[in-house]
Amino acid sequence: MKQEMVKEGYNKVAENYSNQRGDFSSIFYLEKLENLLKENSTVLDIGCGAGVPVDKYLIEKGCKVIGIDISDKQIDLARKNLPQGNFEVRDMSNLKDNEYQVDAVVSFYAIFHVPKETHQKIFNKINSFLCQGGLILVTMGASEWEGEENFHGTQMYWSHYGPEKNREIIQEAGFEIIFEEIDESGGEKHQIIIGKKL
Ligand SMILES: C[S@@+](CC[C@H](N)C(=O)[O-])C[C@H]1O[C@@H](n2cnc3c(N)ncnc32)[C@H](O)[C@@H]1O
Repeated sequence: MKQEMVKEGYNKVAENYSNQRGDFSSIFYLEKLENLLKENSTVLDIGCGAGVPVDKYLIEKGCKVIGIDISDKQIDLARKNLPQGNFEVRDMSNLKDNEYQVDAVVSFYAIFHVPKETHQKIFNKINSFLCQGGLILVTMGASEWEGEENFHGTQMYWSHYGPEKNREIIQEAGFEIIFEEIDESGGEKHQIIIGKKL
């Protein structure tokens, strides 16, 4: 099963991945989100990895962070890196309506590890975690593709639509898109979207 491959893959490469995470810019987008957040916001990070730099930034800005990730190794690292965070091993495919109530949801480089046909369902769940005006900051694919490749020496699976379909999914889930661009850091292209729940 694809989810098992992704989980086992990140369990193997978590430390390597952390060592090269600095190649991808995130702070620029986090600053944009933070400017829109009220003080003491609670943020859910889906596919939080080792929590650095995203959750570290949010905690330093005074947010409460809940991080979920399918990889227990990533969650171990996140707990070590950020004892102030609240981290749990979870598969985003099994989220339930309303089970979190937060001010914002972030997800960097993670949603494209689950089959693209399920992305609409995931954004619908995310919508249920937010009040009106709640925010999302997500990284999505910059072109449509599905397949497996070598990733830091292990087999890894990705599945994503391109920008137009991603936009449609997020709008269909009940968000207004307030910022969007193709980020080219790390020598790769990703679509970054900030949305607000209508
Ligand atoms: C490329 S890493 C990004 C980690 C972190 N968001 C960051 O920006 O450094 C992708 C993360 O998504 C997690 N992930 C993949 N599929 C997942 C799923 N179905 N549910 C939860 N997390 C998942 C992986 O375990 C991995 O930690």
